[in-house]
Amino acid sequence: MELYDAMRTNPSCRYFTDDPVDDATLHRIFDHARFASSGGNRQGWRTVVVREPAMKAAIAALHARQWNVYLEHAREGVVGFQTSDEKTKMDTYDPSQHRLTRTDDFTNSLANVPALLVCCVELWTLAVTDSELDRQSIVGGGSLYTFVQNVLLGCRNEGLGSALTTLLAAEEPEVAELLGLPEGVAVGALVAVGWPEPDKQYTKLSRKPVEEVVFSERYGVPFGP
Ligand SMILES: Cc1cc2nc3c(=O)[nH]c(=O)nc-3n(C[C@H](O)[C@H](O)[C@H](O)COP(=O)(O)O)c2cc1C
Repeated sequence: MELYDAMRTNPSCRYFTDDPVDDATLHRIFDHARFASSGGNRQGWRTVVVREPAMKAAIAALHARQWNVYLEHAREGVVGFQTSDEKTKMDTYDPSQHRLTRTDDFTNSLANVPALLVCCVELWTLAVTDSELDRQSIVGGGSLYTFVQNVLLGCRNEGLGSALTTLLAAEEPEVAELLGLPEGVAVGALVAVGWPEPDKQYTKLSRKPVEEVVFSERYGVPFGP
């Protein structure tokens, strides 16, 4: 598949068929994804592929617990899990019933998704250059999510659907217990992977134009062709 096509046509897949995802396909995806960039080329990303039904059910239950927290916040018109007590009101939050229903369906069927990838990072490999600033830190994740995005694109290239979520990170102690994560290994994402249920997929993604998100020389000056 052509790279730009893959980038433009890779929605969050929330409905999957029951068909299994074979080891060779997953291995091929990881074998390409591992060429992602990471700070100092430390490659601290570690992924646990979960396919045992009991383990998937346990992970799905933890995810659902956090989804319910998120829903509670959404109902109050408050989203964002900030480190301070001040929760952030987000003007742009889209509480459309359609999206909530799809995500709710996804949460309820997560245990049946063929493969759950628990994407972790070894914290000691990270150089967190914004850790001294008076705001929440975002840099550390940069050395995990490059790999995760490559996995999402690799799935698309194989015809697989995928959905990235980060709710599971809030359940890290339980996840560590279940999967045997060593001390200092953090949970950064859960990626659900399977073959897309054909009738339930989006055909066109909706994203902001370049001019709204990329600037020329100064913040706010649209970058145009
Ligand atoms: C950091 C992050 C967290 C996300 N968490 C969830 C989640 O908990 N549940 C879910 O269904 N989708 C989750 N998503 C997927 C987004 O909702 C999705 O990318 C966005 O709504 C755009 O949808 P589309 O890619 O299908 O167009 C997450 C995406 C990111 C990048």
